[in-house]
Amino acid sequence: MTFKGMDVVSVRDLSREQIEQVLDLAQKMVPYAKGEKTTKILDGKILANLFFEPSTRTRLSFESAMTRAGGRCIEIAQPLTSSTVKGETLADTIRMVDGYSDAIVLRHPHEGAARLAAHFSSKPVINAGDGAGQHPTQTLLDLFTIRQQSGGIAGKKVVMVGDLKYGRTVHSLAEALAMFGADLTFVAPSLLQMPRETVKQVEKYGVSARLCTSLEKVIADADVLYVTRIQRERFPDPSEYLKVAGCYRVDNVLLREAKKNLVIMHPLPRVDEIAPEVDETENAKYFVQAFNGVPVRMALLSLVMGGEL
Ligand code: NCD
Repeated sequence: MTFKGMDVVSVRDLSREQIEQVLDLAQKMVPYAKGEKTTKILDGKILANLFFEPSTRTRLSFESAMTRAGGRCIEIAQPLTSSTVKGETLADTIRMVDGYSDAIVLRHPHEGAARLAAHFSSKPVINAGDGAGQHPTQTLLDLFTIRQQSGGIAGKKVVMVGDLKYGRTVHSLAEALAMFGADLTFVAPSLLQMPRETVKQVEKYGVSARLCTSLEKVIADADVLYVTRIQRERFPDPSEYLKVAGCYRVDNVLLREAKKNLVIMHPLPRVDEIAPEVDETENAKYFVQAFNGVPVRMALLSLVMGGEL
């Protein structure tokens, strides 16, 4: 299975074997990601980080991963300082950056932007979130975290809660978890339920996800609770947002009903969907999850750019 030169736009671009290859390599990357060991596997390589939407974790962990692997980053982190404001098309920007770098990471507000970029670039393009579409590298680090914290993925009961309609992390993750044979429950107000297309995709892997509106009803059975933020910026109508804002909140009262070793995850940033008191519990794994972005992205970057540990 050769990764070299590959675009990663959707989780569907990866086979189960390829995902396992990334996760296994990520495990080996942990001491390097922590700075306990050093490596030069991506020495001389340049990664272009193009972020046309806000980002903290994704951008910084790609940068940290690239630097820990001995490579360097160039970036557009504030689109207002780039030629986009002069009317340059994404296609032209990509054609340019193609000549300045060895791989491109793109976050963009429009669904499909990363696929378009991949078309115009001869270098690997990694989708770091395209509108309400996909976020495959978040999925890789989520899978890594589930495997690490729950001891496996197959058969685990994963409950996803929050904005399943506009949340791109859950679109990618649901498909990948189905590929690995997890048991899925989608909890959201009907306005924000998982898109039909994702549910159908999950069914293709032989998984029939449960859809419901009450977190209280399903919490007792869960091995993993994946909490998401209501994606306010994607609502066409602000009054629709107000109808669902604050609809779910995970707190210690809810956790009394949960399994003792429940793993609570969140791609972050959180707003008010997880009470701060939960941070102190053994169940809270979202900061470990955020760290896991570094070894996982080190693994993926070295695979697509052909660096060997
Ligand atoms: C997520 C995103 O950008 O989709 N954040 C992230 O990458 N960790 C989740 C979100 O913004 O709610």
